[in-house]
Amino acid sequence: MTVDHVSSREWAQRLSSTKIPTLMFPTPADAGVHVAHVVADLIRENNAASVPTVLGLTTGATPVGMYHELVRLHREEGLDFSKVMAFLPDEYFPMSPDCPQSNHPWMRSHFFDHVNIPEEQIQMPRGDTPLNEVQSYCEEFIAAVDRAGGIQLQILGIGRNGHISFNEPGSSWHSQMRVAKLAPETRADTAGVFGGEENVPRQALTFGISNILAARQVIIMALGHRKAEILSRVLTGEVTEAVPASILQRHRNTIFVIDPAAAGSLVDQDA
Ligand code: PGA
Repeated sequence: MTVDHVSSREWAQRLSSTKIPTLMFPTPADAGVHVAHVVADLIRENNAASVPTVLGLTTGATPVGMYHELVRLHREEGLDFSKVMAFLPDEYFPMSPDCPQSNHPWMRSHFFDHVNIPEEQIQMPRGDTPLNEVQSYCEEFIAAVDRAGGIQLQILGIGRNGHISFNEPGSSWHSQMRVAKLAPETRADTAGVFGGEENVPRQALTFGISNILAARQVIIMALGHRKAEILSRVLTGEVTEAVPASILQRHRNTIFVIDPAAAGSLVDQDA
């Protein structure tokens, strides 16, 4: 285990026992600040070259600290998001974007309402797409990502069962954006937001694994002890469709950003 000064304001331990580069920060807040600064550095570099920054973003409890810091960087340090193109990879299905549980209001209240990304540069899948139009809708969504030049940096969380976006265990490595069935663990973990598991949609629109692998850089954030068991399988186990995130062992530029609670036994292996 090495201790790195990732920037002048933060430090991290780089775990040496993992098959995917993994940075462990002392607290969830430090992890969020670090990822925000990676995003900000990319935006600044692209702004200086007058080229867009194409981001894949995510919802959930995990990235809240990252969005908080990005909003602070915009307000206090003038970070300019005007050339950012933002894509969200998933949404419950069926789901109206006006529903409080939709990913749309979540992204707006945590991030988009507080920074200067032009509305026409924000794309979030619509869960009210008619079922018979979903396939062409998904193809067009991915075509829009391609027209933007592809995702430069995709931020993701990870489910307790190893899902990335809503690619649940068993998802094919070749899967494309589609409507996918939610796993029981995912529906149980979301029950609080929906006021009971019975109210959680059974399906979701999601980027496929192949769409995630197409991103030039992926950062997966995982915080808290509930993620420790799956992280050990993803980061030290074999690549298997039973653990969707394990495929990132074969992605050329993925990093995990975690806290000590999520690291669990990985830290002991490192010691
Ligand atoms: P969480 O969700 O950030 O709310 O833990 C992560 C995920 O399921 O991808």
